Amino acid sequence: MGPWPNDPLGPQARASADIYWIMFVAAVIVLVIVDGGLIFAGFKFRARPGHSAQQFHGHNFLELVWTVVPTLMVISFSVLSFEKLNVMNDNHTGVDMTVQVQGQQWSWLFSYPKEDRFKLIDGSYLSVGEELHIPVDTKVLLQLSSKDVIHSFWVPNIGGKKDAVPGRPTELWIQADKPGTYKGQCYEFCGTGHADMLVTLVVHPKAEYYAWAKTALAEANRLIDPATKTGRETFLSLACVGCHTVKGTTAAGKVGPELTYVASKKSIAGGVLSPVDEANLTKWIKNPPAVKPSTAMPNLNLSDTQIHDIVQWLLTLKCAPNQANCP
Ligand code: CUA
Repeated sequence: MGPWPNDPLGPQARASADIYWIMFVAAVIVLVIVDGGLIFAGFKFRARPGHSAQQFHGHNFLELVWTVVPTLMVISFSVLSFEKLNVMNDNHTGVDMTVQVQGQQWSWLFSYPKEDRFKLIDGSYLSVGEELHIPVDTKVLLQLSSKDVIHSFWVPNIGGKKDAVPGRPTELWIQADKPGTYKGQCYEFCGTGHADMLVTLVVHPKAEYYAWAKTALAEANRLIDPATKTGRETFLSLACVGCHTVKGTTAAGKVGPELTYVASKKSIAGGVLSPVDEANLTKWIKNPPAVKPSTAMPNLNLSDTQIHDIVQWLLTLKCAPNQANCP
């Protein structure tokens, strides 16, 4: 955000910022003229010794001025507003990409277009929560829906703010001038988690968007890979999920370390076991207190097969090459 109440970084936001500034400046000019005139007249024509207040009854010129000028102002603001609204509501011209956005208590789910570049190994298409990734200088249409109550999608710098209403599809287009990360917030009170219902809009340079899509696909594919299905399902069916988070799955525990990229970590068990390989993962899961007596992780008495399957899956939880947020 810049020093001003709005800092438009895309054409959608700029359309509303333009009209904001025009009206703001006009309002300041009116304020100065009206209040200035009032103060001036009150001072100059005040009653004082040796001076009696003058009486006026009607003044055609002044009355004409303060009728015609505000009328013209209101008409021009209307014309201007309709013109900007046309731009802001133009959800069809020049749309390069359409993303389905679903609000639910209390997160957003972004489903990318049904195109080959977003296709997963099971034939479905990329659908990711929390972050929305788009290319720069590209008009992206968001088709909003809601699973439960009314939410509202809003990324202030990029502009536009649109409700996601259950049973009634709505649309909003967005476009960003510069690559970067933009913060947004659900703008309709939707329950106790409303304040935490954030949006992170990540804008990529056009040349890098494809690389991002490849990484995102690889991660999504990893979570549905038939080769590690048994291990994954075993993990997700056990108490593991109560303590650990693996993004993209139902495992969302906060007690233990996040395992989303466990295979890219340098060590596990708080540094006791390194590197993170099949042998060490197996040793750890088999009997954690035997490796680290003070650990909070219990011995779940899993069978060797269960441990083997889980380890095979955990070994695939790796960062992509050059991934920025890799632990
Ligand atoms: Cu969703 Cu507020």
